[in-house]
Amino acid sequence: MKASKPFSPELLAKIEKFRALNHPMKLGNVDFSSRLLLAPMAGICNLPYRLLMEDLGAGGTVSELISCHGINYGNQRTLEMLKIDPLEKNVGIQLFGEDAEAMARAAQVAESFGPKFLDINMGCPVNKVVSKGGGSALMRDITALAPLFEKVRGQIKIPLSIKIRTGWDANTLNAAEIIKIARESGIEWVAIHGRTRTQQYTGVADWNFIENLNQVKSLPLIGNGDLHHPYGVSERLQKTECDALMIARGALRNPFIFLESLDPAYASQKRSIFNGHDYWEVIQRLFSYVTETFPEERTSLVQLRKLIVWFAAGFPHAAAFRSQVFGCQVLADTMKLTEDYFQSLGEAQKFINYDEVFMSSGHG
Ligand SMILES: Cc1cc2nc3c(=O)[nH]c(=O)nc-3n(C[C@H](O)[C@H](O)[C@H](O)COP(=O)(O)O)c2cc1C
Repeated sequence: MKASKPFSPELLAKIEKFRALNHPMKLGNVDFSSRLLLAPMAGICNLPYRLLMEDLGAGGTVSELISCHGINYGNQRTLEMLKIDPLEKNVGIQLFGEDAEAMARAAQVAESFGPKFLDINMGCPVNKVVSKGGGSALMRDITALAPLFEKVRGQIKIPLSIKIRTGWDANTLNAAEIIKIARESGIEWVAIHGRTRTQQYTGVADWNFIENLNQVKSLPLIGNGDLHHPYGVSERLQKTECDALMIARGALRNPFIFLESLDPAYASQKRSIFNGHDYWEVIQRLFSYVTETFPEERTSLVQLRKLIVWFAAGFPHAAAFRSQVFGCQVLADTMKLTEDYFQSLGEAQKFINYDEVFMSSGHG
C-alpha cells in the first residue's frame, strides 16, 4: 500500500490522546497493540478495512472467513482474500472447513501469505457451512477436534487460535471442554462469541458465561458479543478477566470505537469528540486503501459505499444520505456527495438506538 495522506494535526491529536491509554498485550508470540481487537466479519474484514481499523486503534484484526477448499482448489477469488499488506501489523487469517487434511493443507498456503496467526472458524451458524460440518458444527463432534487441531498445528509455525460460540444450543454449552481439548492440541488462544449456534444473533451475548470461563480457563480468552458502543466496551474492559475483547458490528457504525473505549470517564459521557470532518478524513483514507486494493471502479464503489453509509448511521439526515449514496453509480460522485454530507455535519452528534437490531446475521 502506498503511504496514505497523513491525518490532519487536529485528528491526529484526538487519536493520540486515546492511544496514550492503550495497553498492549501478548498472545502467543504476537504483540497486540491493544486489548481491543477487530472481530472477523465476512464481506467486511478485507485488507482495506482491516488496515483502517488498525490505523484507528484496533490492536489486531482477523480476516473474513476463508474456505479451506477454495484455497486448495486454487480458486483465484479465494487466494485474493488471503492477501495481506505489509502495513498490517497484527492480522490473522481465519479458515473454515471440516476436514483435517484439507484444513492443514490450506493452513500451509495461508501461512505463506504472512499473517501473524491463523484462526479456525468454529462459530459460523450459517446452514451452508454447518451442513457440510464446518463452522459451529465443529462444536458438535468434539472427538474429531484434537486430530483436526493437531493436524493444522503440525503444518504451521505461527500461532493457531479458534473462534467458538458458547455451545451448539442451551443444552450443550461445551465451550470449556473445547478449550481444554484446544489447549492439549497446541491452540494458543480462544475467542468466544457469547451465544449458542441456535441463538444465531438473537437474544443477548452471555457475558456471565464468558466471565465464568475465565475461572476455569486453560488458555487466553478473547470475549466477544454485543460490545456495540464505547461506554459498553470500556465498562467491560475495566471489569473483564478476559485477556482481550473483540468488536465486530460496533466498529461499523463507529470506526473510532477502539480509541473511544479506552477512556472510561470520556466514554461514560456518551458524547463523541469525533466530528463530521474527522469522519470525512477517515473516509478519504479508506478510499485510498480501497481503490488501491480493488482497481476496478465498480468493486471499489460497492466496497466503499456500504461502509460510508454505516459510518453515517445516527448522524442527522443519515437516511436521506444513504439513499443518495445508493442511487449513485459513479465513484467520484459518491465521494463528492460524501464530502458534502460529512462536512455539513459540523459538530453534530450521532444518536443510535442500540436496542434496535443491527445486522442480525453473520458467519460466527
Ligand atoms: C456481517 C457479519 C459477518 C461475520 N462474519 C464472521 C466471520 O467471517 N467469521 C467469524 O468468526 N465471525 C463472523 N461474524 C461474527 C462476529 O465476528 C462476532 O462474533 C459477532 O458479530 C458478535 O460480535 P458483535 O456483537 O461485536 O458484532 C460475523 C458477524 C457479522 C455481523
